[in-house]
Amino acid sequence: MALVASGLAVALVGAAGCGKQRPDLVRGKQLFAGKATCGSCHTLSRANAHGTVGPNLDDAFAADKRNGLGVSSIQGLVEDQIAHPHRGSAMPAGLVKGNDAIDVAAYVAYAAALPGQDAGALATAVQPKIGPPAVAKGGVLTIAADPTGALSFVTKKASATAGAIKFVMPNKSPIQHNIAIQGPVTGSGPIVGSGGTSTFTANLKPGTYMFFCQVPGHEAAGMKGTLTVK
Ligand code: HEC
Repeated sequence: MALVASGLAVALVGAAGCGKQRPDLVRGKQLFAGKATCGSCHTLSRANAHGTVGPNLDDAFAADKRNGLGVSSIQGLVEDQIAHPHRGSAMPAGLVKGNDAIDVAAYVAYAAALPGQDAGALATAVQPKIGPPAVAKGGVLTIAADPTGALSFVTKKASATAGAIKFVMPNKSPIQHNIAIQGPVTGSGPIVGSGGTSTFTANLKPGTYMFFCQVPGHEAAGMKGTLTVK
């Protein structure tokens, strides 16, 4: 961690501290992944962020946390970096401002180098990107797992015509998944780890099916969708 705090930055951080309202970590996590785009450049495992343009934020603050630097001090360092990256930095200045910057910095300070996974409202703070419906082509229906590690497929809807359909689920996420269907006909592919592909073939009859992941907890967390067969 090598941050040069300018006098101005220290003044800003000091001013932010006066408000004494508690930062909103859920909003901070959402901004980190979304509008502030921090996750496109930085790795922060609790935020499912795997960017490699900037330093890995888990690594950047691991030693600080081990050495007993408090979360509020780390928050101040992150706020300073957001407002004042060094001149010529690849990190644009002021990606988020005001309370948004405080919330993002507080989330980074909380999450960096903290073992385990976010729970409660933080676990569901960032909703995965849902793409257009998947349509079977040439007897193959491809439905990928969300590559960021969110418990979701990349779509919530799929369609196919009746007959033999091969289901193909590429898994580029860091977590194990499979794909299965339930409806007029059932079927399931093997659970595969990162880089694997779960496939199976089913002889589909017309009707409405659920496609879902059978790894415990994943369907309940939203890793499912609707398949319409005509
Ligand atoms: C376009 C890529 C990019 C984006 C977006 C970005 N950063 Fe950075 N960040 C960098 C780079 C590159 C550095 C390396 C130091 C520098 O150039 O300032 C850095 C440095 C940092 C550091 C200091 C880490 C250390 O080891 O000293 C922190 C903290 C940080 N960024 C947090 C954030 C936060 C929070 C956001 C979102 C508001 C964000 N960054 C958005 C590229 C980015």
